[in-house]
Amino acid sequence: MNDMTPPKDERAVALKGLGASRKRVEDVRFTQGKGNYVDDLKLPGMLFGDFVRSPYAHARIKSINSEKAKALPGVVAVLTAADLAPLNLHWMPTLAGDVQMVLADGKVLFQGQEVAFVVASDRYVAADAVELVEVEYEELPVVVDPFKAQAPDAPVLREDLAGKTSGAHGPRRHHNHIFTWEQGDRDATEKVLSSADVVAEEMIYYHRTHPCPLETCGCVASMDKVNGKLTVHGTFQAPHAVRTVASLISGIAEHNIRIISPDIGGGFGNKVGVYPGYICSIVASIVTGKPVKWIEDRMENLMATAFARDYWMKGRISATKDGRITGLSCHVTADHGAFDACADPTKFPAGFFNICTGSYDIPVAHLAVDGVYTNKAPGGVAYRCSFRVTEAAYFIERMIEVLAIKLGMDAAELRTKNFIRKEQFPYQSALGWEYDSGDYHTAWDKALKAVDYTGLRREQAERIADFKAGKTRQLLGIGLTHFTEIVGAGPVKNCDILGLGMFDSCEIRIHPTGSAIARLGTISQGQGHATTFAQILATEIGLPADDITVEEGDTDTAPYGLGTYGSRSTPVAGAATAMAGRKIRAKAQMIAAYLLEVHDDDVEWDIDRFVVKGAPERFKTMKEIAFAAYNQAIPGLEPGLEAVSYYDPPNMTYPFGAYICVMEIDVDTGEHKIRQFYALDDCGTRINPMIIEGQVHGGATEGYAIAMGQEIAYDEIGNVKTGTLMDFFLPTSWETPHYTTDFTVTPSPHHPIGAKGVGESPNVGSVPAFSNAVHDAFRAFGLTQSHMPHDHWRIWKVAHDLGMHG
Ligand code: CDP
Repeated sequence: MNDMTPPKDERAVALKGLGASRKRVEDVRFTQGKGNYVDDLKLPGMLFGDFVRSPYAHARIKSINSEKAKALPGVVAVLTAADLAPLNLHWMPTLAGDVQMVLADGKVLFQGQEVAFVVASDRYVAADAVELVEVEYEELPVVVDPFKAQAPDAPVLREDLAGKTSGAHGPRRHHNHIFTWEQGDRDATEKVLSSADVVAEEMIYYHRTHPCPLETCGCVASMDKVNGKLTVHGTFQAPHAVRTVASLISGIAEHNIRIISPDIGGGFGNKVGVYPGYICSIVASIVTGKPVKWIEDRMENLMATAFARDYWMKGRISATKDGRITGLSCHVTADHGAFDACADPTKFPAGFFNICTGSYDIPVAHLAVDGVYTNKAPGGVAYRCSFRVTEAAYFIERMIEVLAIKLGMDAAELRTKNFIRKEQFPYQSALGWEYDSGDYHTAWDKALKAVDYTGLRREQAERIADFKAGKTRQLLGIGLTHFTEIVGAGPVKNCDILGLGMFDSCEIRIHPTGSAIARLGTISQGQGHATTFAQILATEIGLPADDITVEEGDTDTAPYGLGTYGSRSTPVAGAATAMAGRKIRAKAQMIAAYLLEVHDDDVEWDIDRFVVKGAPERFKTMKEIAFAAYNQAIPGLEPGLEAVSYYDPPNMTYPFGAYICVMEIDVDTGEHKIRQFYALDDCGTRINPMIIEGQVHGGATEGYAIAMGQEIAYDEIGNVKTGTLMDFFLPTSWETPHYTTDFTVTPSPHHPIGAKGVGESPNVGSVPAFSNAVHDAFRAFGLTQSHMPHDHWRIWKVAHDLGMHG
């Protein structure tokens, strides 16, 4: 190096690469109101669509009269299933291999179902016209309970499937049954359970909830009849998949469809699926020749799009007397609503629920999931979780607590005793996964020490004594969780969505002056990809992150990818980014060697440059190399400096974490106060610690909402009781607890930079921590299980049923 060359560490810091808490580049526009969301888009001549929706959960449609609506000035069209039928667009395929009505075809199956689509010159006229469409319904018996739905005399919900004894995932044994999915060894598990020292059995319910992003779903479809090109701007978490599906459904050639996801105000799984609004807007634009905008309102978003969870999980777990777990059985009754529209990889109708052995070395296990139709909205999305992983984590973390009660054992000790040990990785689980890496004991010990677990238990014992002596009405709950996630779908050999393999991609173009643009197949919805993916590249190619633009979401420019959900961006597209960066570096090495007049093997990489081995004063920086790539004729090399990588991960990544919640509970009012929440996450190599912390705060707050009050609740005739934000709990800063974050680092052995995903972890891990805290507070008074959400009334009821109100 010459005297002017800054030292290595200074050069590394200047890049703002891996490990830097680089400020989010996106926030400059977001914090100034300069984001560009779908509803900001205004195209010349644009029309507006709005839905007539069913007030009933189950009813036959006797007639639809849209004459009065059509007569309203400004109304351009009113579409019904009869209008879509000639195009064969009145039904559409779902992500789960089922079909779903785009507009009600003969009957409605859930409250809020789309019945007709009004297109008008403005949003207000469209809303007024919706009121003028007259629909005559004949009510039918409603089923909202998935167990009652399976009774022999239960009403037939899906008349279109009458007589079909098999569906997309195998045999159906009842007219409201969708599939049975089994994993593991049933016989071996039953054998262990029937002869075990101790067996704990419990029904664990993870209630129906909803991602509720701040921005609802919507799109603007614009068919240009002159050049035959359809452009759809929309809130899409997987723009390329939407393009392919739109082409297959509409018959429009894929190169004539452009899908653009602009800024997205939170997705959390809500924006993975395809909704009737997208189809109707596209059809309306084709029919009218004008752009058509459709934006959901909040009630529509809560009532009719993509619910999450609704899993009834019957568990049995066995152990030796001293607390060594020997077997696990789980049977899930999965309420999928009216259409099976779950967003899961094709071969996994219950997502990755078979991660339900959790962080524990369980020798034998069996899982069976039954999907069932009910009169509720379809969807079944991974609400900030990797395909049913949060249900699985909740199940096992509750079962561990239930087993600890049965054994009369401390739940922290029971976990320590049964964790998969560090030396067992890669670990083959009884339900079929190969966990890539982990060090659970180190994380757990760190967490217990950080909260002074022994001290907390001492304090709790004193509190119980004081309560029994009548000195206090406040209980103390210590909620423990050690979760293992599975993220990064996924290897193409076993993960696809509608036949599209779940790889991902990155394309990099280095400009002559040494700055760059990287385009990816993913799409940020607030996770900060533009910040963090530039950091991966900065470290890989030695150009400052500030000089690298990251672009996502436009299918005309970005390479094909399967999008962002289930924390797959870092494990898959992040890996593609590193691999594309390495291709750039490989070519840069040849250019550097040529410029330095040495053999390729005689130069080595040094932070932001190639240096001649043994003569570090002779070097070429990446900036110099980039320029040379465009202005020098280098023998044997094409001009330019670009690369693309399509990355098919060899395995998922398995982030994990230890979360502890300390909660005060008032026995008389059911009110709670989170005294402390400690979240330790291990997501392997950490790209941006500040963004990770933000992800944890956000996810844990969603988890808090889910565990403590958030619910999509129905009455017995299928009315949604929580269709507004007055009833649906969305925490504000007032309710949000304070979080302490921590970490360990156990890199993924197969990811190019050792990173695992993190976005989902805090939602997955925090729900059982909050819920276990409630249960733990009442453990000494005889509580084993009470269902979420633990709102004030339910907590009060627990205390009441335990006879604590005198
Ligand atoms: O797929 P999604 O972006 O929702 O989730 P993710 O891959 O877990 O990433 C969420 C955010 O955290 C992204 O900005 C990542 O780059 C960042 N992250 C990180 O800094 N380090 C990790 N090991 C994992 C994620």
